Amino acid sequence: MPMIPELAVAVLACARIGAIHSVVFGGFSASSIADRINDSQCVAVVTTDGAIRGAKAIPMKDTVDDALIGCPSVKKVIVATRTRTPVSMIKGRDVWWEEEEKHVTAECPAEEMDSEDPLFILYTSGSTGKPKGVVHTIGGYMVFSAYTFLNVFQYKPGWVHFCTADIGWITGHSYIVYGPLANGATTLMFEGIPTYPDAGRFWDVVDKHKVDILYTAPTAIRSLMGFGLEYVNEKDLSSLKVLGSVGEPINEEAWNWYNENIGKGKCPIVDTWWQTETGGILISPIAGITKTKPAFATLPLPGVQPILVDENGVEIQGNGVNGNLCIKFPFPSMIRTTWGDHERCRTTYFSTYQNLYFTGDGCLRDEDGYYRITGRVDDVLNVSGHRIGTAEVENAINMHTGVVESAIVGYPHDIKGQGIYAYVICESMVHDEDLTRRDILATVSRVIGPIAKPDRIQFVSGLPKTRSGKIMRRILRKIAEGETSNLGDTSTLLDPSVVDEIKAGAEALR
Ligand code: WTA
Repeated sequence: MPMIPELAVAVLACARIGAIHSVVFGGFSASSIADRINDSQCVAVVTTDGAIRGAKAIPMKDTVDDALIGCPSVKKVIVATRTRTPVSMIKGRDVWWEEEEKHVTAECPAEEMDSEDPLFILYTSGSTGKPKGVVHTIGGYMVFSAYTFLNVFQYKPGWVHFCTADIGWITGHSYIVYGPLANGATTLMFEGIPTYPDAGRFWDVVDKHKVDILYTAPTAIRSLMGFGLEYVNEKDLSSLKVLGSVGEPINEEAWNWYNENIGKGKCPIVDTWWQTETGGILISPIAGITKTKPAFATLPLPGVQPILVDENGVEIQGNGVNGNLCIKFPFPSMIRTTWGDHERCRTTYFSTYQNLYFTGDGCLRDEDGYYRITGRVDDVLNVSGHRIGTAEVENAINMHTGVVESAIVGYPHDIKGQGIYAYVICESMVHDEDLTRRDILATVSRVIGPIAKPDRIQFVSGLPKTRSGKIMRRILRKIAEGETSNLGDTSTLLDPSVVDEIKAGAEALR
């Protein structure tokens, strides 16, 4: 569903009747929707006729219809009206939201549930295989999203909270719907995009609704910085009390711009680190209380025990150190299982290091004991704050006819944080590289969705592999980053000459 009130209503209605919801981001393809439906075996889908994104109308029901061809578990489809675009309605299966509303009263007693019953499944990408369904439970998740909202932002009754995320991601679940509403806060839902009709859209919303808390992502800040201050300075932002950042590391330049131009130097910035799996914020300043430092998530919240370990899982003690970020002790909203496959949950999160939850993130703890998350250390990319598994994108590209193999790595991108770089081997020489590139992009859009489209595609004749057939991603990453000299040891490669070819190709592409 698009970001319309009916989405929050549908989520809360599920919670009230004891049904498990699984919100799917509106930008995913039919095949991604079908994968999620089939994995969860859900029985009903709630959608809209269409959606609006900037100046564009986007089909919703059509995409769902395509998905449902392969989804026998679905018995009912509820369609809310948004764009009034023509859609097909299948007799016995599809009903209009507005029609059904007429047949029910506003009374609906809440179903009594166990605190450990599942509340929702949210699919997220990992370093291998298909996205997994992260399961959160009723008691722990609601307690922790409510507790962290109240404390991190230092929410005061009557404040207006504006989180710019989409409810299709965990940030929208915890800090548009559950956290604020459990505290009786006024929460805003933003259906548009930050740059339509112009780059002042967020500031319009703040001005118009006298927003007290603004919670957004570094990628949005970096993109809006580029449009200059004229869009900011003509708006009244004096209602703002607290600013938040989430989803990816925030660079110092963006932090300072946010602080000076949006917060006018008087709003604390809470750089909140957490994950779909953690359900709520784990490492963050407490607004106005913790002394902040640009680009640092600062300190763990009370009760949260982060530790840094080396590759062998040995705890790295002291300050001024770098390591892999793990959590030592459970907290209320931690992932309970991955839907339908408990073993996958254990191996993904609890087997890398004994008796620890491994986050997949690298982290610095500075001389003051402050934490700075440096980014993923596994094969997960963070593109504009969206989590994308390299294996998923590779699988999508490999579905394109003529493609033999591909390797995806991330590279630094000024606005998106990370861009997607694809190395692709084709069966025979590609005659029209541009056309093939566009075909590959269309394939990825079709298989996953437009958010997973590579920013750069380089055709290669081979990939750097070890004798045991493992792709040396370290080398591919360095080349994608523009590094040509310091590639490290290439002597263990099956065919070291392929590296020179790839370097030359990358140069040409740039
Ligand atoms: C990254 C989003 C640096 C991190 C809530 C994590 C961050 C992944 C921050 C989870 C932050 C999130 N600073 N990195 N403040 N917040 N991340 O599941 O790599 O979509 O592992 O949850 O985003 O992404 P997810």
